[in-house]
Amino acid sequence: MLDQLPLLPADPILGLAAAARADDNPNKVDLTVGIYMDEQGLCPVFDAVQRAQRQLVEEETTKAYMPASGDAAFNTGIQKLVFGEDSAPLLAGRISSIQTPGGCGALRIGAEVIAAAVPGAKVWVSDPTWPVHIPLLGSVGLKFENYRYYEPDSHGVNFDAMVDDLKQAQAGDVVLLHGCCHNPCGADLSLEQWGVVADMAENQGFLPFIDIAYQGLGDGLDADAAGLRLLAARLPEMIVAASSSKNLGLYRERTGATLFLCRDGNSAAALQSQAQVAARRVYSMPPAHGAIIAGKVLTDPALRASWEAELQGMCQRINALRSQIRHQLEAATDRDFGFIEREKGMFSFLGLSKEQAQKLRNEHSVYMLDSSRINVAGVNARNIDALAAAVGQVVKG
Ligand SMILES: Cc1ncc(COP(=O)(O)O)c(C=O)c1O
Repeated sequence: MLDQLPLLPADPILGLAAAARADDNPNKVDLTVGIYMDEQGLCPVFDAVQRAQRQLVEEETTKAYMPASGDAAFNTGIQKLVFGEDSAPLLAGRISSIQTPGGCGALRIGAEVIAAAVPGAKVWVSDPTWPVHIPLLGSVGLKFENYRYYEPDSHGVNFDAMVDDLKQAQAGDVVLLHGCCHNPCGADLSLEQWGVVADMAENQGFLPFIDIAYQGLGDGLDADAAGLRLLAARLPEMIVAASSSKNLGLYRERTGATLFLCRDGNSAAALQSQAQVAARRVYSMPPAHGAIIAGKVLTDPALRASWEAELQGMCQRINALRSQIRHQLEAATDRDFGFIEREKGMFSFLGLSKEQAQKLRNEHSVYMLDSSRINVAGVNARNIDALAAAVGQVVKG
């Protein structure tokens, strides 16, 4: 029975990362996978996370299952982190959440709940979007429609086209939005544009589903959630998928949350119960380790201050790198790379063709996706010259 199943190709991003690892060129540059890397090219553990982890090891007396909604401190902490300490809907009891295995788990549970409300609902996704959105949401039977978003010529959001497409979104449809630091393009909506999306959601009745996986890595924790909070202040309902992978560095601990903004407290409780039942049928119970750590970091004032300072340092480093990459690429190519500085978070498209991206890989050991998406945080003082020189050579032919 099983031997009829074929060998499947590697995930395109993970496959490229594996190819980069296998490359024995000592000067290779790996800008493929979306993890934060420091100047040494390492993905660090936050000091506050290390301290919270030590506390956890000291205190832990059981490995019994977690509650179905996950760690209570984590849920409280992530609700405030996403919606803001003094969020009116939060204070009114209109928000509930469950802890999930990472942001992916959060997206999947959000999709399960949407499918329970409207089987086969149409989800509007940005063109382009993170490719994993499609299997995560599609596997519960949701359908997709693209809205135009990134415009390669201007290296920015074509907001008029986005609005034009979303005019067709109706009550019962879902619009998936990247909360900040759009993956893969790095081009985000301005606050004014978020306001237009709020008007449209209000008038047309579609449900915003916000994927916020990079809060704190664009302009800061509050600034990165400003668009989402604007919607939350105006709309009756919204779903948010949050991840602690990047901003708490808990990638492998699979820590995230699905959050529900609802019309009232009764509905918030109902949505949490729906999510718990959905989780029960998919993976049963959430993992404990990462969420307990995140719960401590988010709610203990000393750990919180240490974490925020370290996260701010990462955010500043990414933005400084954006400026350096822009200037070095401009010097190497005579092209305008000003857009890299305008974009936010870990990703940007360099605007190269697939052939150029492949040439960079095959002839210069510089690894980026075929779309020329780079992980900005993978650049450092040791590899930036090699990156610029290689791009210069490929662009000039
Ligand atoms: C846009 C986006 N959403 C969600 C995630 C979920 O990440 P995780 O499941 O590792 O928390 C990622 C991770 O790369 C992402 O880029």
